[in-house]
Amino acid sequence: MYARLTGTGSYLPGTAVSNDDLAARGIDSNDEWIVSRTGIRSRFLAAPETTSSELGLVAAQRALDMAGVAASDIDLIIVATSTPDFIFPSTACLIQGRLGSSKGAAAFDVQAVCSGFVYALGIAEKFIRSGSHSKALVIGAEVFSRILDWNDRGTCVLFGDGAGAVVLEAAEEPGILTTAMHADGTQNGILNVPGQVCGGQVTGDPFLRMDGQAVFKFAVRVLAEVAEEVCVDAGIPTNAVEWLVPHQANIRIMEATAKKLGIDRDRVIITVDRHGNTSAASVPLALDEAVRDGRIRRGQRVLLEGVGGGFTWGAALLEF
Ligand SMILES: CC(C)(COP(=O)(O)OP(=O)(O)OC[C@H]1O[C@@H](n2cnc3c(N)ncnc32)[C@H](O)[C@@H]1OP(=O)(O)O)[C@@H](O)C(=O)NCCC(=O)NCCS
Repeated sequence: MYARLTGTGSYLPGTAVSNDDLAARGIDSNDEWIVSRTGIRSRFLAAPETTSSELGLVAAQRALDMAGVAASDIDLIIVATSTPDFIFPSTACLIQGRLGSSKGAAAFDVQAVCSGFVYALGIAEKFIRSGSHSKALVIGAEVFSRILDWNDRGTCVLFGDGAGAVVLEAAEEPGILTTAMHADGTQNGILNVPGQVCGGQVTGDPFLRMDGQAVFKFAVRVLAEVAEEVCVDAGIPTNAVEWLVPHQANIRIMEATAKKLGIDRDRVIITVDRHGNTSAASVPLALDEAVRDGRIRRGQRVLLEGVGGGFTWGAALLEF
C-alpha cells in the first residue's frame, strides 16, 4: 500500500505587495537590498480579518476538485500552521466544519513551523500506509503577517500569507517513496515567537524573532542532508530527482542546496520571488503552481523539503 498525491490546490489572499510598496508604507528598506539578499520581490498579505482556515479552505477545495474527491470521502485532515485561527479548536477542525460534509474524519493541526507541511505529509502517509485511513487532506495555511514586527526590517520583509493543499489517497502504485522528519530543539532560540496568552494577556514577545545568519547556515546544511537521506533510502542518486520543491525562504538557501545536491537550478521550483516565505504553506503552494503549469507531470520524481523553527526539518521523495 502506498499513499499517492491525486490533487493539489493553493490560494493567495489579496494582491501582491512589492518591496517598493513596503518602503512606501514606511518600512526602512528597499527593493535592491531585499532582492539581493533574499530573491523576494513581492508577497501577499491577508486582510486583518482573514484567517488561516479561510485560506486553507479554498486551497483544500481546489485540491479536492483536481482529485475528483468529494469532501465527504475524506477521512483524515491535517493542517500545518503556526498561525492558527484560535488556541483551540484546531484549524483542521474549522476547515472540516466549513467543508461541510466530512463529519467524522480525524482532524488535527501539526506545529513544525516552516517544516510543517512536510511533517504533515509524512504523518498522513503513515496513516494511509497503515491501512487505518484512505483519503487525506494535507494543508499548509498561514497568516504570518499577524506575527511580524513591522518595525523589524530584518524579518518583516521576508514573509507572506497563503495556503496550499494536497489530497493523498491509498494506492497500489507509488506514491510517496520515503519521508524523513527531524528536529533539534537546542536551536529553539534562533527563530521563534516567544510569547503566550496567560490570564487574558499576551506575555513574553508575540512577534517573530530571528538570528538570520544562524538560520541561514543551519538551513543550508540540513536541507542538503535530509535530501541525501531520502534519496539514499529510496536507492537513487540526488541528481536523479526531476523536481526539487524546497521550502521557499530565500533564493540563496535554495540555490546553495540545489548546488550541493547536483540538481540544476531549472529543476528547482521557485516561488519565493513572488510569495516570500509563507512558512508551512510554501511547499504546497510551489508544488501546486508547478503541477498546474505542467512542469511537474505524472510519474516524475519530486523531492519536497522543509526547514523551520524548532529547529525542524524534513523531506518527502515521491513519484508524482
Ligand atoms: C535575513 C537575511 C536576509 C539578512 O541578511 P544578512 O546578510 O545576514 O544581513 P544582516 O542581518 O547581517 O544585516 C546586514 C545589514 O543589513 C541591514 N538590514 C537588515 N534588514 C534590512 C532590510 N530589510 N533592508 C535594508 N537593510 C537591512 C542590517 O541592519 C545590517 O546593517 P548594518 O550592517 O548597518 O548593521 C539573511 O540572514 C537570511 O536570509 N537568513 C535566513 C532567513 C530565513 O530564511 N528565515 C526563515 C527560515 S525558515
